[in-house]
Amino acid sequence: MTAPSAAALDVESLEAGYEPGLPIVRGASLQVQTGEIMAILGPNGAGKSTLVKAVVGLVPVSGGRVLLFGRDITRVAAHRMVFEGLAFVPQTENVFVNLSIAENLELAAALVKADRRERLDPVYAMFPDLARQRALRAGQLSGGQRQMLAVARALITRPRLLVLDEPSAGLSPKLVAQVFDKLREVRASGVTVLLVEQNVKAALALADRAAVLVEGCERIVASSAELLGDERIAALYLGRHTGQQTRKEAH
Ligand SMILES: Nc1ncnc2c1ncn2[C@@H]1O[C@H](COP(=O)(O)OP(=O)(O)OP(=O)(O)O)[C@@H](O)[C@H]1O
Ligand SMILES: [Mg+2]
Repeated sequence: MTAPSAAALDVESLEAGYEPGLPIVRGASLQVQTGEIMAILGPNGAGKSTLVKAVVGLVPVSGGRVLLFGRDITRVAAHRMVFEGLAFVPQTENVFVNLSIAENLELAAALVKADRRERLDPVYAMFPDLARQRALRAGQLSGGQRQMLAVARALITRPRLLVLDEPSAGLSPKLVAQVFDKLREVRASGVTVLLVEQNVKAALALADRAAVLVEGCERIVASSAELLGDERIAALYLGRHTGQQTRKEAH
């Protein structure tokens, strides 16, 4: 009998929140399979950011556990996660605006005590625009370029799992497409991807599977194809039947 292969990420009955006794994530469970792109969807305030922050060690966990490729990382400190093979791109403040592109990337290499050259070259090859503009201050970059830099910074640490919170936030549809294309490339390079998204249509076009989080608990977990045809999703998030759009889609 062969042992079942471990999922990239296994979130088991996770409880997490900001104050003792007031869980925001309430018994959420989901698995991310190795090599897939998975999206976490759900209404504003559902606890999507809190869930991924709990996974990456930024929000205290009060129950359940998190396994990364079979290894328990539930109480690993956030700054140690890169050594476990997990990188996180927060929604905001994900680059150092006063440092150049090169310095942002060098800092990420220093964080994992890696040789700069060896780490930066392959990342520059993947992000030629960043390579060309490497001396530019991150604060001078457009929203799309800044998001690319945030992803590039995360890749410097050579994660096995990349977790992103709303990488499309504030970007035009054209830039969302560019960032999502880059995430496809990231996955093709062997990195498993978990992302929180408000942009449901784009997320379902990108992801293999998605989990819908409602009130801190996963309500539906299914393939993107199934979710696209799911009346509950259509009514809740895609505006069908109701003729309404979600807040961020309406922008
Ligand atoms: N730092 C914090 N301290 C206390 N409560 C917080 C904090 N951050 C979020 N919350 C609360 O946790 C709940 C879930 O918020 P969270 O940001 O996880 O939702 P979300 O699903 O990511 O929403 P959105 O789609 O708006 O990003 C909300 O009620 C929010 O007020
Ligand atoms: Mg959020």
